[in-house]
Amino acid sequence: MGRFDGKVAVLTGAASAVDGELMGFSGAVAWRFMREGGKGVVLTDMKDEAGEKSAASLRKAGFDAVYSHLEVTDESQWKAAVEVARKRYGRLDLLVNAAGIIDRRSITDTPVDEWRRVMDVSATGVFLGTKICAGLLGQSGGGAIVNISSMASKMAGAYGAAYATSRAAILQFTKVAAIQYAGQGTRVNAVLPGWVHTPFTTWAHDDVAQRDARTQRIPLGRWGTPEEIAAVILFLGSDDAAYVTATEILVDGGVIAAGGAPNPKTK
Ligand SMILES: NC(=O)c1ccc[n+]([C@@H]2O[C@H](COP(=O)([O-])OP(=O)(O)OC[C@H]3O[C@@H](n4cnc5c(N)ncnc54)[C@H](O)[C@@H]3O)[C@@H](O)[C@H]2O)c1
Repeated sequence: MGRFDGKVAVLTGAASAVDGELMGFSGAVAWRFMREGGKGVVLTDMKDEAGEKSAASLRKAGFDAVYSHLEVTDESQWKAAVEVARKRYGRLDLLVNAAGIIDRRSITDTPVDEWRRVMDVSATGVFLGTKICAGLLGQSGGGAIVNISSMASKMAGAYGAAYATSRAAILQFTKVAAIQYAGQGTRVNAVLPGWVHTPFTTWAHDDVAQRDARTQRIPLGRWGTPEEIAAVILFLGSDDAAYVTATEILVDGGVIAAGGAPNPKTK
């Protein structure tokens, strides 16, 4: 018996789920969810070619996966994605909100349109996903929503003001949604990843100086893997977390506890 027997998931930001290639968080979630008994998974993203390839890769392994185009700031596209889950599988048990973009300039140099776009994808995307999926989640017995924030919501840096601010917004929204949907049995939680090698961070990971500058601030001494983040997302999405709602879990190798300070070896 698997933890997700007969269950169905909708995942955003899920274009990187091809077996043997670098995965994103939703990609790693898709594979583990299906390996643990999932009935079906709806991968969504704006990168249609990569998304279709990801769904085909899961199907080739014998899993029922489908790709649906979804720009997370568009309400009508959310409705269409949920209809895919309803029509194909008849239910919805897990929503993972993982779509995201980052800004990398100083506040002075950030155009307002870039600020708005980052805020929109993070905050409006999570709002719309919750709003549109809550009905089917409730009809399916409650289910769970897991929102991907970031450890960036807990620390301040010289760049990326919109990203850090929008990731903090996800945390407060998570709590409000958890309270509002508790009555229908839907749990809502957030995961705050640290530095993890995915397509999102390749620019930093593949640059030795950028990578090492971060690695030395990680008490565990290495970047995380998409599978390690997926493990926590799926804990929150499973019945193992049946009494867990309105909370947040840092999965950062200890960065925030260490205050971002470099960690010299003690031996
Ligand atoms: N990788 C890390 O180190 C890290 C750390 C903390 C938080 N995060 C967050 O985790 C989430 C998942 O990132 P990942 O690391 O798995 O990388 P990823 O690149 O695999 O996933 C992000 C996906 O979001 C999609 N996306 C962007 N804007 C979108 C929109 N408007 N509508 C729909 N899809 C959109 C992208 O096409 C991409 O496929 C992101 O929200 C990111 O901010 C990542």
